[in-house]
Amino acid sequence: MIDDRLATELILKAEALLEGEAPLPERLQQLMQLLKDHQPHYHWVGIYWLKGNELILGPYVGPPTEHVCIPVGRGVCGTAVAENVNQIVYDVRERSNYLACNLETRSEIVVLIREPNTGKILGQIDVDGTEVGAFDESDEAFLEVIADRIARCVSQRSVI
Ligand code: SME
Repeated sequence: MIDDRLATELILKAEALLEGEAPLPERLQQLMQLLKDHQPHYHWVGIYWLKGNELILGPYVGPPTEHVCIPVGRGVCGTAVAENVNQIVYDVRERSNYLACNLETRSEIVVLIREPNTGKILGQIDVDGTEVGAFDESDEAFLEVIADRIARCVSQRSVI
């Protein structure tokens, strides 16, 4: 759940950050940090890029994960791409295909990053929470805006 005012404030900060001068991977890393710092329920925040039939881990903030490469169709992340739909997992213990990133995780949200004009999937934002039911449609709507801003940057310059 994310407050409207905080969401608006973070979107403005994200836009300013993405327009900065630093190399794009650095700006994206800072963006992950911005999201984690201002959202107490965002325990792990990262980007996976879609490359062929695999999701490759990009910038992230949080505990290290062994899932640096996830085939499309596997786990919550791979399911989002295979089904072409964002995922909000209320309790990861109820998902048989869940790939554990760390044992504290109880809920997860995956929002697809799509090319602005074509809708083609470029990757996804993945967020883990330590509470059951940490994420809802307000997080999805917020992360969709962030995903759109990321897509606008990467479609200009390739970081994948
Ligand atoms: N839980 C994800 C794997 C990625 S980690 O959470 C960072 C999944 O089931 O696909």
